[in-house]
Amino acid sequence: MLRERFSAPLDRSALALSDSTEEDTALLRADLWGSRVHARMLGETGIVPVRSARRIDAGLRALERRAARGQLPLTPELEDVHLNVERELTRRIGRDGERLHTGRSRNDQVATDLLLWLREALLDLEEGCARVALALRERAASPQGRSVVTGWTHLQPAQRVYVAQILGTHALRFLRDAERFRSVRERLTDSPLGSGALAGSSLPLDRRRTARLLGFSRPSPSSLDAVSDRDAALEALSNLALLGVHVSSLAEELVLGSMPQVGRVRLADPFVTTSSLMPHKRNPDLAELLRAESGPALGRLVAHLALLKGLPLAYNRDLQTGKPLLFDGVDRALRGLAVLAPMLSTAEFLAPKEHVGETGSVEVVDALVGAGVPFRQAHRRLARELHRLERAHRTLRELSPREWQQRFPELEGWRAHPSPESEPELRRTEGGSARESVRPLLAEVGRRARRAARAVRAERSRLLRLQQALNVPIQRRRRSAARAGRSPRPHRAR
Ligand code: ARG
Repeated sequence: MLRERFSAPLDRSALALSDSTEEDTALLRADLWGSRVHARMLGETGIVPVRSARRIDAGLRALERRAARGQLPLTPELEDVHLNVERELTRRIGRDGERLHTGRSRNDQVATDLLLWLREALLDLEEGCARVALALRERAASPQGRSVVTGWTHLQPAQRVYVAQILGTHALRFLRDAERFRSVRERLTDSPLGSGALAGSSLPLDRRRTARLLGFSRPSPSSLDAVSDRDAALEALSNLALLGVHVSSLAEELVLGSMPQVGRVRLADPFVTTSSLMPHKRNPDLAELLRAESGPALGRLVAHLALLKGLPLAYNRDLQTGKPLLFDGVDRALRGLAVLAPMLSTAEFLAPKEHVGETGSVEVVDALVGAGVPFRQAHRRLARELHRLERAHRTLRELSPREWQQRFPELEGWRAHPSPESEPELRRTEGGSARESVRPLLAEVGRRARRAARAVRAERSRLLRLQQALNVPIQRRRRSAARAGRSPRPHRAR
């Protein structure tokens, strides 16, 4: 196809490099949708006879049905999804199919397809992140959330916190991811369709009409930009890299927590594996695989940025190489989120039988500050006391009431050092570890997750209505003089 200008077909080796049909299967639905909208506009404006536009539309609908059944394989010889669709259509309906590509280039087509594809991918990602946040919240609100564990900094015992706060915090990260994906989606407003190869068209295309039919708010303001802009893909890849980091951090805590020495987490049987040699093993392989995904997620972002760097304006074939990066990035992230939600819902978060390591020293310092001692002095006194205790293999908890009285006479109310279980309640600042601070955190997680899910539902039904609107028969439309602009009159079709 498209070799009439040359004396020879594309070399086989060249075809193997050029072919993008494998990844383009992802774009099939978007390509058919964009084509139906383009054909409708061509019929409505009279650029193509209405009868032909209707036949094209019927043909494309048939292809949609085949695609939905997975029965529209793409032929590598035809290079990409766009030429495959056009060829299949023409095979099916004959010469009318040859009018479909009027006023269109694969350059504005692939840009349009990518945005349509991305819009739905972002919805899936928003939904996946919200699901994980809700799974975390549900665990946090369960009795397991009230377990007290040692919060670490530098992986050293720092201050005791409720499991609920840890889980609620991971949930916040996933909600920010969902909100970032949504923000990318809400900025997919400019329709590339009608930008042609790079400079628009001499035919009176109605770009506002196709923009509206595809659910965009307007035609892109520069055709040169429309065919080269991959910002949205880059933003998505950037958000995916960050999501990957969040997943890896949570996964690492699941791996660490499953270590018998730590004993905070027990992953359910469907989410652990065993050893091919050591029958006693209970390995957190799935959590490790989730942890690993952040590497390729970051790599895809860097790879895509690198391939764009230094590209001149308008379409360059390099852009094709970006597509699998985006498709794989989304696919891998969705797989990860799909595992994470049930993995968390079935995990047990355990209260450690023994609290390892000294904590609660800050609270003694704070109490001294409350009694009027300057902070740095109080810090020093505690540090010296802890130094003495450590040499005696003792802890603050083991000080008798008399020893407390001797060492910290200012602290009349303190009969003993707070137990690990009571420690989180001492920090009641907003966002702190006490129950009264964790409760609003969990409430916020619930609110934001529900808001994210509502936004997804609303957008999905908007997209569905747009698709259904294409079932109305195509009619010739009178264009307003203003919109017809200075475009030359279309050739009357025979
Ligand atoms: N297969 C191309 C891609 O995926 C479509 C656009 C090709 N345009 C061109 N002039 N060769 O980006």
